Amino acid sequence: MGVAWNFLFVFLYWGFLVTQADELIYLQSVWRHGDRTPLRSAVWPTNPYQESFWIKETNVGLSQLTPTGKQQHINLGKKLRDRYITDLGFVSPNYDQREIFIQSTNFARTIQSAQANMQGFYDDLNLMAPINKPGYFGPGDCKRTEALWRYIQQTPEYQALNSNQSYQNMMTKIRSLTGEMYWDLPQIYDVQDTLYITHFVYNQTAGNNNEEQLLAMFPQINQTNDLYLDWKNGIGLAPYRGLDFSHEVPQAADGGGFLLRGFIGLINGKIYCRNTTSDTSAFCTWMNPLKYYAYSAHDDTIAAALASLGFKRTDYTQDGTPQYTSALTFELWLDNQSNPYMRVLFKLLSVTKIPRSIGCTNNCPLNTFINRSMPYLLNSTLDYDQMAAWCDVPLCVDASDDCNQYLNHCQTPSYRKIFQPF
Ligand SMILES: *[C@@H]1O[C@H](CO)[C@@H](O)[C@H](O)[C@H]1NC(C)=O
Ligand SMILES: *[C@@H]1O[C@H](CO)[C@@H](O)[C@H](O)[C@H]1NC(C)=O
Ligand SMILES: *[C@@H]1O[C@H](CO)[C@@H](O)[C@H](O)[C@H]1NC(C)=O
Ligand SMILES: *[C@@H]1O[C@H](CO)[C@@H](O)[C@H](O)[C@H]1NC(C)=O
Ligand SMILES: *[C@@H]1O[C@H](CO)[C@@H](O)[C@H](O)[C@H]1NC(C)=O
Ligand SMILES: *[C@@H]1O[C@H](CO)[C@@H](O)[C@H](O)[C@H]1NC(C)=O
Ligand SMILES: *[C@@H]1O[C@H](CO)[C@@H](O)[C@H](O)[C@H]1NC(C)=O
Repeated sequence: MGVAWNFLFVFLYWGFLVTQADELIYLQSVWRHGDRTPLRSAVWPTNPYQESFWIKETNVGLSQLTPTGKQQHINLGKKLRDRYITDLGFVSPNYDQREIFIQSTNFARTIQSAQANMQGFYDDLNLMAPINKPGYFGPGDCKRTEALWRYIQQTPEYQALNSNQSYQNMMTKIRSLTGEMYWDLPQIYDVQDTLYITHFVYNQTAGNNNEEQLLAMFPQINQTNDLYLDWKNGIGLAPYRGLDFSHEVPQAADGGGFLLRGFIGLINGKIYCRNTTSDTSAFCTWMNPLKYYAYSAHDDTIAAALASLGFKRTDYTQDGTPQYTSALTFELWLDNQSNPYMRVLFKLLSVTKIPRSIGCTNNCPLNTFINRSMPYLLNSTLDYDQMAAWCDVPLCVDASDDCNQYLNHCQTPSYRKIFQPF
């Protein structure tokens, strides 16, 4: 699980670029949970490593954070402490609930990861910091994603895969070896993930004949999973019937446009409240002392966030699933003229590639950051209910499409007009 942390580089890079007068005023982060056991829904009937094995091996059942995963998050918390407490003196060294807001998706593994992260961050293994949940920046199961996937299935890229005999043979074999007769491309993630954890993280032998045959196909499964993850994040597909998937897909993803929209909203709120001392609303009373907002989430969340930052790979510059504890940090700074700018770091490595991808050569002026984000965001004036309504509107690229083909209900013409996304 080695993550290469490059502190020296970060340190030198920062020392060189940030003038003394610049001030960090707000920090947001999003991370993936630590090492976990296979997902309950991804352990097929013929799998030799059922839940009892995982309990023996890791002390926890399926879908859970392992003790290793907990330690990984303590370590990430320490790295964050090094930068934001020790080096920059930004967050107070002792837990102060007015300064920090931690949100988590509603899963034991993300909540426990957040707890462990706070223990590392505050260097206190007994700390039980409050974790807010459930955390979704938009509707967690936006139906538009499903509608977009139906269109993705019509693309020439998907059709080419579907008519590839080698792919079809692999899927047929997977179905018969796992006993999961209805598994299709999206479940290639489950197959890859469970095989990866069992045999490449926990180094188990094949265990039975079916598993041996599945393992023999691992390179092809792994490669197909890379392709699936790309498409799922709107990457690697040419525009199709007017749909630019690289924008459309992140717009409807919790970790993508919804997260970016939420983060930008809070950034704007921070600047407004800081600048408007007369505003004593509940929002500004909360926002003014707030320094750090973190979101504890999943590989999907990180992949979608990277896609909404314009990356063409699901794991930053690599294919595949973002690794455990992968973290993006969004820093809001004021320069010595009080102009706000953003720095976005991946795994705390100061990645010069991110500013480049978002159209900034160095520090990214906030306006530039917001403008480059617009194609990935839903209209910022929509509230949560309106976003949920948008998610439910059937997606039809033109009049020849039957909306009902994609979703189970149809909209009235006036409803469609209001929310017509195109
Ligand atoms: C079919 O898929 C296999 C891998 O699954 C790939 O090596 C091969 O190039 C593909 N063939 C075509 C014609 O795309
Ligand atoms: C599995 O093997 C790798 C490579 O040899 C090693 O780094 C890792 O610690 C092993 N995993 C476990 C759970 O022992
Ligand atoms: C704060 O408000 C002043 C006056 O309205 C404005 O000139 C300045 O740009 C604002 N600062 C920020 C960071 O928004
Ligand atoms: C699986 O795919 C990932 C992403 O392309 C690659 O980094 C990794 O080496 C592959 N693993 C194996 C065991 O083939
Ligand atoms: C403000 O920052 C700019 C750019 O980093 C630098 O050139 C300038 O010397 C700074 N001015 C002061 C007064 O610190
Ligand atoms: C805003 O972003 C668009 C692309 O989305 C770009 O064409 C335009 O030049 C940008 N405007 C500014 C002022 O940066
Ligand atoms: C956002 O939505 C509001 C209300 O529906 C509308 O008035 C506004 O024009 C929209 N803005 C953009 C940029 O689409």
